[in-house]
Amino acid sequence: MDIRLEPVVPPLSDEDVAFCVKGLREVFSSIDNWHAVGQVKRYLDEELRRDDTWMFIAVSNETNERVALASVTRFAMPRYLGHAYEVQEMCVLPEYRGKGIATRILELLVEKYSQDPKARKLIIRTNDGNVAAKKAYAKVCEPTDMVSMQRFLNKLPHEPTATCGGAA
Ligand SMILES: CC(C)(COP(=O)(O)OP(=O)(O)OC[C@H]1O[C@@H](n2cnc3c(N)ncnc32)[C@H](O)[C@@H]1OP(=O)(O)O)[C@@H](O)C(=O)NCCC(=O)NCCS
Repeated sequence: MDIRLEPVVPPLSDEDVAFCVKGLREVFSSIDNWHAVGQVKRYLDEELRRDDTWMFIAVSNETNERVALASVTRFAMPRYLGHAYEVQEMCVLPEYRGKGIATRILELLVEKYSQDPKARKLIIRTNDGNVAAKKAYAKVCEPTDMVSMQRFLNKLPHEPTATCGGAA
């Protein structure tokens, strides 16, 4: 499927927030509860105003349907006197999977960030068990021998319930 990437620009429209919620639902199971209290819009409005963080919606060039989303963050890599772009979220709506959309999104991001002379790498990570993601990403990116480690820091303060009230 032929697609283009459209940036999500703050302040997000209701349509943009609803699409981000839909796209992220599979990787963030309680997102509807946070959306119900307006927290998803508040978060994205604030985070996407940074000059190092972007969210893109993939739109079909044939039908103009919104089919996927991806978020990207830039960070400094002093050892390369440059910086890296890391794709954080990559979510293709279930009905559009297996059509090469994730692969095409990565190709478009490579094209886009190659224009930045200080961009040294595009990075994307996934779980070892995510076969579809590994297959899609390997068509554009090379596997590395890096070992990924993490330590959780501050948790989300509370889990709102769907009865907390409407989106603010
Ligand atoms: C992972 C994900 C982004 C892939 O998007 P996609 O647009 O379907 O990916 P592509 O079509 O570009 O490539 C997927 C490849 O994996 C294959 N594939 C899909 N499901 C598979 C499965 N269960 N087992 C093996 N291969 C699978 C597809 O056939 C395709 O390979 P092919 O082109 O050689 O046929 C999508 O499945 C998704 O949004 N999943 C839910 C969220 C998620 O897991 N995101 C990634 C977190 S890092």
